[in-house]
Amino acid sequence: MTSSDPESLVDLLLRYERTAAEVLPSAAYDFIAEGAGEEISSREAVAAWRAYRLRPHVLRDVSHVDTSTSVLGVRLSAPVLIAPTAFHVMSNAQGEVETARGVRAAASLMVVPTLSSMPLEAVAAALSGPWWLQVYCTRERELTRRLVADAARLGASAVVLTGDTPLVARKRRVIFPPVTADQYLTNFRRYLARDAEYAFATSVDPSIGVEIVTWLREESGLPVVVKGILRGDDAKACIEAGAEGLIVSNHGGRQLDRALPTAAALADVVDAVGDSCEVLVDGGIRSGIDVLIALALGARAVLLGRPVQWALAAEGASGVERVLRTIRDEFFQAMALAGASSTSQIDRSLLSAAFKP
Ligand SMILES: Cc1cc2nc3c(=O)[nH]c(=O)nc-3n(C[C@H](O)[C@H](O)[C@H](O)COP(=O)(O)O)c2cc1C
Repeated sequence: MTSSDPESLVDLLLRYERTAAEVLPSAAYDFIAEGAGEEISSREAVAAWRAYRLRPHVLRDVSHVDTSTSVLGVRLSAPVLIAPTAFHVMSNAQGEVETARGVRAAASLMVVPTLSSMPLEAVAAALSGPWWLQVYCTRERELTRRLVADAARLGASAVVLTGDTPLVARKRRVIFPPVTADQYLTNFRRYLARDAEYAFATSVDPSIGVEIVTWLREESGLPVVVKGILRGDDAKACIEAGAEGLIVSNHGGRQLDRALPTAAALADVVDAVGDSCEVLVDGGIRSGIDVLIALALGARAVLLGRPVQWALAAEGASGVERVLRTIRDEFFQAMALAGASSTSQIDRSLLSAAFKP
């Protein structure tokens, strides 16, 4: 099943990021690359996955390796999804529609951000398969209510509630995203009074608790996945409130600086929830071996954030497709060399207890 593309994902992403740095205005490049505060968490994320060491099996039949899995009932050829990142129009004039074309070509699943710079209708049409909507819960609850209802009508099959953003953390490089007011409000404009001032940063409701999971589930009629979990106790509380999935995430190091790397937080969350829900993870995933390690720790699947924007800036939809195909090929190879012929054979015994982030 593997293709013969000789370029590793790490090299491909280095090349795409370098191209992005050349072709994008510096404010766009910096907005995508940056982390919050001193950028300690955003810098640590990649290295944390690389701290693990593997204990591969040998002499297992790997003549057929099946990289496929399902997430919340959606069948995928590999356990890799697209994380919600705001304003793809920063990287490509067609924004999320262009991303969607690449995702569709690689048969992956896109978490479409609330802050999509293209209308949900257009993104959903370009995907023409299952997708999830990421939401922040607004103070004006009616906005969120209408947004999730529209997403459900347009075919979204889950709602991803970002839980780690009661306020938008301060960044040192670029504070406001370099997009126009129109691009900023693409998916809100229709719900607002004409010419309404709408400052997103102050519109997120900092008072919400886990009961919002129940509300979102009732309003949307869709399963709710909570994103931004780093602790087992929070994970349990979300499940009790009705969450069907969790994403272990520190928002790519863009919220609380010095938050734990997700590679170090994942096992606690998995152990706390057992089989009661699916746990996904994002942050610093840059190779097929990272995917193998995440699954060994108990993740169902991983999500990619910045790599998608770099690919989009460098090569548009075909770049996004290439990233997804390359990581799938690398995961295939990592599975075969670790002696796993299906994702169900990947477990924590593949990891050495002596090496951890
Ligand atoms: C430019 C940018 C914008 C983002 N916007 C959002 C967002 O609107 N909502 C959200 O839940 N996460 C957002 N994230 C976080 C990603 O969903 C994801 O958690 C993170 O990027 C994963 O780390 P990675 O970039 O190392 O793959 C954003 C990340 C970036 C880089």
